[in-house]
Amino acid sequence: VYVIRTVAVLSDVHGVLPALDAVLAEPDVAAADLVVVTGDHAAGPQPVQVLDRLLGLGERLLLVRGNADRELVELALHPRRARDPELPGAVAVDRWAADQLRPDQVELLAGLPHPVTVDVERLGPVLFCHGTPRDDDEVVLVDTRPARWAEAFADVPAQVRIVLCGHTHMPFSRLLDRRLVVNSGSVGMPYGHAGASWALVGPGGVALRRTTFDPRAAADAVVAGSTYPERVEWTREYLLTPASDIEALAAFGPRDGR
Ligand SMILES: [Fe+2]
Repeated sequence: VYVIRTVAVLSDVHGVLPALDAVLAEPDVAAADLVVVTGDHAAGPQPVQVLDRLLGLGERLLLVRGNADRELVELALHPRRARDPELPGAVAVDRWAADQLRPDQVELLAGLPHPVTVDVERLGPVLFCHGTPRDDDEVVLVDTRPARWAEAFADVPAQVRIVLCGHTHMPFSRLLDRRLVVNSGSVGMPYGHAGASWALVGPGGVALRRTTFDPRAAADAVVAGSTYPERVEWTREYLLTPASDIEALAAFGPRDGR
């Protein structure tokens, strides 16, 4: 039986290839037994390239579904709806990204699991999800009240003591009634800081990590490597002047039930 000792956890790459490449170049990611990517892989300016790069990891790769992956599949399968600017549901970059995907990539996204549990040596079963274990689009924040957390985690088996999630693009690590919950943050669209957030799961537990890179060079690479019509504005907003975590908490706050 193949034993997993270390897992590199990436999330919310959102089609930003230079940010993904910076993280994949980290020695601890290159050496990890498994690379788990917890959703929202392709909804961004370089969807095709990011999926191809991830699949290049071969057997070490485990992709989990995010809400944006599910939405891209919907848009790709209903292209008329995707092009109708009157219809709500997806932001412009999602509509564009859905149009770029090859059929094999749409099929890949359509088949992604959520959540996924992996046995890690010394840590036991570790659960990987996007929003919460029960819902890829549910918002829980570092300061979400314990009763809401308990509700969102009600179906998680008792033997699962570690849960990794993404979705809100802000890293945190907190205990919830003896269970460790870690949000690895976002590789491509981080809020509150520059650089790509990720996490390393290993014998010592879960460590939050961050990979810094030159945002100007990354923005230039995205603009050169994408045909998304709004790519200059997109990179300015998400790579050059990312929102603060306090702004993001305020924007997400109503969705966590406050
Ligand atoms: Fe996301």
